[in-house]
Amino acid sequence: MTWFASPADASTRLHDVGYLADPATSTTSFLAGALEKPLLVEGPAGVGKTELAKAVARATGADLVRLQCYEGLDEARALYEWNYKKQLLRIQASHTQSGGDETWDQTHDDIFTEEFLLTRPLLTAIRREEPTVLLIDEVDKTDIEVEGLLLEVLSDFQVTIPELGTVSAVRRPFVVLTSNASRELSEAVKRRCLYLHLDYPDAEREREIVASQVPGLDDQVTRQLVATIARLRELELKKAPSIAESVDWARTLVALEIGDLDDTAIADTLGVILKHRSDHDRAVKELKLVRR
Ligand SMILES: Nc1ncnc2c1ncn2[C@@H]1O[C@H](COP(=O)(O)OP(=O)(O)OP(=O)(O)O)[C@@H](O)[C@H]1O
Ligand SMILES: [Mg+2]
Repeated sequence: MTWFASPADASTRLHDVGYLADPATSTTSFLAGALEKPLLVEGPAGVGKTELAKAVARATGADLVRLQCYEGLDEARALYEWNYKKQLLRIQASHTQSGGDETWDQTHDDIFTEEFLLTRPLLTAIRREEPTVLLIDEVDKTDIEVEGLLLEVLSDFQVTIPELGTVSAVRRPFVVLTSNASRELSEAVKRRCLYLHLDYPDAEREREIVASQVPGLDDQVTRQLVATIARLRELELKKAPSIAESVDWARTLVALEIGDLDDTAIADTLGVILKHRSDHDRAVKELKLVRR
């Protein structure tokens, strides 16, 4: 399947499903599909990394299979696991029924079959016959060993199960890995991927994103909001506001029916965009806001 016909096609179709991609994002998304290479998206929190994978799925009519990474994620949660309880029941049942006649080899062959396999996201995505976007989210949160597991999937689109053999993809999924870069990923993983760095958008793109997601907000206020967010990002904050916060802030202003984003309005709603006490103090000082 061709995922996108060209970078321009990627841009238009992502736009149609509400994702406003910059030229680098549309080009890399097109290439990831055309070359059938996994796409590694790195960047700060809330800049649209996860959303890109969801948007690719929406734009292409594919289903999304998601592997959420976390510390301690292992093979049994990422790839597959044998259903031990069911295997045990089967062993007991065969023992009772055959009066102990069934040989161990027979039982063994029986319990390591499809029926007793619990598939997890990586294996699920590999085996699906329908178009699939595989999102491996926040890959930097896992231990480095998990990257070893990913290599077989990312380079050969296959999974080896010792008892069953190698399962190869019938249809290659569109793979998106996201990372906050809280640690460096291994060179082996990076080598297999195309790389996209997502950052905060420029003012015009951010205005478009906010306007498309919160159409109820006055155009002038949207501009004020985007300008204020840009100023805050220039301060040395513990956590700079992301696109997600801009969108939340826009919704807040609509709910409060604020028609002018003046100092008072900013001070009153700062908690929507800044989530650290020290960041509040700094913003109040630098923007010369009056706390009420
Ligand atoms: N280019 C974009 N077009 C439309 N909406 C966007 C875009 N970028 C970000 N957003 C909005 O920002 C929100 C946050 O994006 P997302 O959850 O993808 O962030 P993230 O980069 O995965 O962050 P984290 O690292 O915290 O997981 C999305 O729900 C979406 O509303
Ligand atoms: Mg995310």
